[in-house]
Amino acid sequence: MRLDKYLSDATAHSRRDIRQLVKRNAVTVNGIAARSVDMKIDEKQDVVCVNGEKVFYRKFIYLMLNKPQGYLSATEDDRDPVVVDLVPDELKHFAPFPVGRLDKDTEGLLLLTNDGQFDHELMSPRKNLYKRYYAELDAPANAADIELFASGMEFREFTAKPARLEISPDDPCKVYVEIVEGKYHQVKRMCERAGKNVLFLKRVAIGSLQLDPALENGKVRELTAGELAIFGW
Ligand code: URA
Repeated sequence: MRLDKYLSDATAHSRRDIRQLVKRNAVTVNGIAARSVDMKIDEKQDVVCVNGEKVFYRKFIYLMLNKPQGYLSATEDDRDPVVVDLVPDELKHFAPFPVGRLDKDTEGLLLLTNDGQFDHELMSPRKNLYKRYYAELDAPANAADIELFASGMEFREFTAKPARLEISPDDPCKVYVEIVEGKYHQVKRMCERAGKNVLFLKRVAIGSLQLDPALENGKVRELTAGELAIFGW
């Protein structure tokens, strides 16, 4: 791979910056100042430094966001703030986008990546990944609702696979819902079918990936290797 490609994939520097940095001898490859931006780099072996700092090569990033209310699951919008606004500046050049969507008023676990294959894999219905939500309802849930959720509700555009409804023992207005599909407003529509409105909704897990309890609302962090392995990545 060319040095300029290597550096523009892995850092926030533009191609123009990279040319300047090379001219100023600020880029070294295996300890020797790089002489041209088209020099070939082996990304597995060569040690590249910019201004003395080692560059860790990677092309893709995988982020966990604890989405706050009020943000659209999008990369841009004319009116509303979008989730990529919450990505730290030093990671913005990777151009991450959300994997699936949460409603504007839904909080919690949202993944962002710039890896189209990862997105495709997670969104694939074949994957049968359960998404777990915590919901607060305007009326108590009951045993009949558990049956209704498990029976696979029919909607205009799809039939939901059996979903799990778990009712908090101390407050039946607080529930956990697990669904496979993630269609538009799906949890809210399923709760409405059971005669309840959702007052608050938060996604807490995707498959066995839990929302990190230490990740504050509105904060982003990279997924660990162990977390990526959950999805076979
Ligand atoms: N179901 C909903 O109704 N809203 C979401 O944001 C996610 C799932």
